[in-house]
Amino acid sequence: MTDQGFPAEQIDTGRPHPARMYDFYLGGWDNYEVDREAAQRVIDVVPDIIPSARANRDFLRRAVGFLVDNGIRQIIDIGTGIPTSPNTHEVAQAASADVRVAYVDNDPIVATHAGARLTGSGNTGFFLADVREPRNILDHPTISELIDFDQPVAVLLVAVLHFITDAEDPAAIVATLRDALPDGSYLVLSHATADFHGGSFPEVSKIYNKATATMNVRPHKEIEPFFDGFTLLEPGLVQVPLWRPDTALPEPAELSRIGFYGGVGRKG
Ligand SMILES: C[S@@+](CC[C@H](N)C(=O)[O-])C[C@H]1O[C@@H](n2cnc3c(N)ncnc32)[C@H](O)[C@@H]1O
Repeated sequence: MTDQGFPAEQIDTGRPHPARMYDFYLGGWDNYEVDREAAQRVIDVVPDIIPSARANRDFLRRAVGFLVDNGIRQIIDIGTGIPTSPNTHEVAQAASADVRVAYVDNDPIVATHAGARLTGSGNTGFFLADVREPRNILDHPTISELIDFDQPVAVLLVAVLHFITDAEDPAAIVATLRDALPDGSYLVLSHATADFHGGSFPEVSKIYNKATATMNVRPHKEIEPFFDGFTLLEPGLVQVPLWRPDTALPEPAELSRIGFYGGVGRKG
């Protein structure tokens, strides 16, 4: 159930890729010199990117656990990222072995790892597609194989919409995905913000402008409307460590500088 098969020699090592920079923030090894240099420049400007990326990843884990506890058995994870354990299917299938997960990313490096680390365990699939073309995602054969739109589905847009510019209309992208979902479905969304780092972010944006996708941080009031058509569940759209924590919160000084908001909404 994969269509990765992307030849490694076609991996672009000339420009930083957000997936590989994020992998570096998380302490992974699936990145190149060009990514490490760009990521290190971001870290130099905003050292909080490292605890923020980890906190975002932990939000993903808790949100997936919540979904499965609430009966979700099919998940579309868009902007999957380079596999980092525990991945969505590992969290979901540990809770219930019958959960099906369709992974989607537009970066070939994710495809090169998908077979071994995302789709090796059955009930999972991966394909390359761009969130800016949500119809192509919904109509993809891997989605037809794995997802039954007559049953509730969870769509994950975790740390991906900040790579979409206003001109590319992220709200319309979410609306297209939402309209395909039956009532009882969920949206899990997290998004980078400069609400806690005002002055530093123009610098960060400049670094990402040389990467394959730009960084479009948004304030709380511009992220919350992405949940239009969903009921935002408690505690709402909050800094990611504050979303239903199941371990101790970071120290207040660290918490106050976590630059990701996250939330979960339910349709119908
Ligand atoms: C910061 S990582 C997030 C990974 C994972 N969702 C998480 O939160 O841990 C963002 C991912 O989104 C992917 N991405 C960026 N722009 C995208 C687009 N237009 N379509 C699909 N995926 C995209 C990147 O390749 C990268 O893997």
